Amino acid sequence: MRPPALILALGFPLLAGGEELKSGVPGAELARSKCLLCHEAGHIVRLRQSRAAWEDTVDLMIRRGAPISPEERGIILDYLTAHYGENGPAGPR
Ligand code: HEC
Repeated sequence: MRPPALILALGFPLLAGGEELKSGVPGAELARSKCLLCHEAGHIVRLRQSRAAWEDTVDLMIRRGAPISPEERGIILDYLTAHYGENGPAGPR
């Protein structure tokens, strides 16, 4: 890999603790393509919350302008609940 450009492009939080949305699992590509449009993953990976709370969060992002269809919303919620749910694994991943 070519570290300097890549690290700058991905943002400093990557250096500070690997704050990246979990990839390589169902829904990951969609979530990464939609949820990293306006901000980095840090907001998301620090949270552990119920599906209902993620619904509120995602709906808020949609109100803020996230281009997420009802079908995509379901897939993203499955992903968020599985990996960042209230009973999810501890730690940033
Ligand atoms: C249209 C732009 C946009 C998109 C797309 C977006 N967000 Fe956000 N998000 C924001 C803004 C604006 C904030 C508040 C300012 C900040 O902290 O960056 C925010 C903040 C957050 C926060 C912190 C809590 C809060 O409400 O301030 C979380 C969690 C979050 N976003 C999750 C997500 C998730 C999950 C997705 C994908 C479903 C997503 N965001 C997609 C705009 C967006």
